Amino acid sequence: MTRLIFLGAPGAGKGTQAQKVAELCHIPHISTGEILRNEVAQGTDLGIQAKSYQEKGELVPDQLILDMVLHRLSEADAQSGWILDGFPRNVAQAKFLDELLEKLQQHCDRVINLEVPDQIIVDRLLKRGRKDDTEEVIRRRLEVYRSQTAPLIDYYNERHLLVSIQGNQSMEEVTASLKKAVDLDCSTP
Ligand code: AP5
Ligand code: MG
Repeated sequence: MTRLIFLGAPGAGKGTQAQKVAELCHIPHISTGEILRNEVAQGTDLGIQAKSYQEKGELVPDQLILDMVLHRLSEADAQSGWILDGFPRNVAQAKFLDELLEKLQQHCDRVINLEVPDQIIVDRLLKRGRKDDTEEVIRRRLEVYRSQTAPLIDYYNERHLLVSIQGNQSMEEVTASLKKAVDLDCSTP
């Protein structure tokens, strides 16, 4: 059973690598950013509330995120493993996840921290061109990452869960480093 959290700055390659490992291990790739973008596209209540935060590169309020994650991790396909991408995003979310996993009698195996220099990140994201990939919003997302998300590196390091991977390599090389660093249990489809 594989349960991983992907940590890392915007554009570090969380989504790219999480997708890859999820396919290899036949487990769901749960990206809170992606779920929110779908909600925005569908114009749901949650989407309407989340839209302005996402557009500005601010974190969407915890109360909206926590319900969403509770619901998603309770679904049938998440009972045999998962990859969380972009969650938790601050210490309050990490504490909520600890409690939720205890209730579900699950535990996280590893937290993957993808490390990429800021200038590479900005170049990558400007090239991608998602709605929140403008220079100004990227800078704000990086600030939010430093102040609110980066403290999770210590949080998970203290819990002996953190594995740091050099993300400034080709996508294939990052995947290979990941496979080397983490004992993936991808045996059962
Ligand atoms: P989210 O969707 O999580 O975005 P993000 O953290 O800003 O990260 P990205 O998705 O931009 O980057 P990534 O690390 O996934 O990299 P990717 O693989 O795509 O969050 C968006 C917003 O939603 C937040 O700002 C917030 O408002 C809200 N939100 C989400 N979760 C939340 C939460 N828990 N709490 C509160 N608010 C939340 O790669 C990026 C680009 O680089 C791609 O084009 C890719 O092809 C390319 N690339 C990837 N790897 C490589 C490589 N090795 N070499 C070259 N190019 C590469
Ligand atoms: Mg992503």
